[in-house]
Amino acid sequence: MPATTPLAKGKPNYGWDAPGIMLGLLGIGSLLVTAGVTLAVAKLFPFSQPVGVVLTIAGTAPLTLGVAMLQYGLLGKLRTRDAILDLVTWRGDEVVLDIGTGAGMLMIGAAKRLKASGHAVGIDVWSPKDLSDNSADVTRRNIALEGVTNQTEVRTDDATGLSFPDATFDVILSLLCLHNIEPKSNQTVACNEIARVLKPGGRVVIGDYVPTHSYAQALREAGLDVKRSSAAFGTAGALMWLLVADKPIAK
Ligand SMILES: C[S@@+](CC[C@H](N)C(=O)[O-])C[C@H]1O[C@@H](n2cnc3c(N)ncnc32)[C@H](O)[C@@H]1O
Repeated sequence: MPATTPLAKGKPNYGWDAPGIMLGLLGIGSLLVTAGVTLAVAKLFPFSQPVGVVLTIAGTAPLTLGVAMLQYGLLGKLRTRDAILDLVTWRGDEVVLDIGTGAGMLMIGAAKRLKASGHAVGIDVWSPKDLSDNSADVTRRNIALEGVTNQTEVRTDDATGLSFPDATFDVILSLLCLHNIEPKSNQTVACNEIARVLKPGGRVVIGDYVPTHSYAQALREAGLDVKRSSAAFGTAGALMWLLVADKPIAK
C-alpha cells in the first residue's frame, strides 16, 4: 500500500507548460485562419480569395501546435506522467529525484508509488515562462492536496549544479525541463549531473518535446546504458520524446 497522508481539500493544479508560447500560437493561428477564411469566402477585393487561402494555410501550423499544447495541458500531461512512471519497476523504497518538478506532477506521481520507506525530491528554479504560476508554494499545496507530504521534499536547485552527493538516487525523472537549459552545452552538464547523482543500478527517465538523442549521447558518454530514446507522440497527443537509461553496477 502506498504510504499517504490525509487529503487536504481541493484539486491539484499542475500548471500550463510554456503558457506564453501556447497563447501566442493560439492567438496568431486563430487570427490568421479567421482573416484568411473571411477573405476567401467574402471576396472583399480582386485577389481576396488567393490571399485568403495563403493566410489560412499560414495560420494552420501555429493553430495546430497551439491546440496540441492545449490538449497536452488538459489530457496528455497526466497520460505522459503515467507513461514515464510505468517505465520504472517500483519496489517502493526508492529515493527519487524529479528535475524541473514545476508544480510537482512527476514527484507526486512517484511518491504515490512508494511505500513509507521511499522518498521523492523535486527540484526547480521556478521559471515563470516555463510553467504558469510556477513556485515552490504551489508545489507544496499540490503535495498537501495529494496527501504525500511525508514522502516528498521540495528544493530550489539547478539541474546544472545539483546540490546532492554522488550516487544519491535510485530513480531520476524529468519532464519538459532539459530543453529550457541554455546554452545547449549546459544540457550536457545537466546530463552529467544526472549520471553523477544516480546510484549504480538506478534508472533515469526523461521526457521532452525535442528529440532526446543529444541527452542520450551525453548520458552514454557519462557511462549510462541508454535503453530507449524515441518518440511518444501518441501518449502525449503532442510532440514528445522519451529516454530511458540505466547506470551499470560496477563489477
Ligand atoms: C515546462 S516546465 C515542466 C514542469 C514539470 N516537469 C511538468 O511536466 O509539469 C519546465 C520546468 O523546468 C524548470 N527548469 C528550467 N530550467 C531549470 C534548471 N536549470 N534547473 C531546474 N529546473 C529548471 C522550470 O522552472 C519549470 O518548472
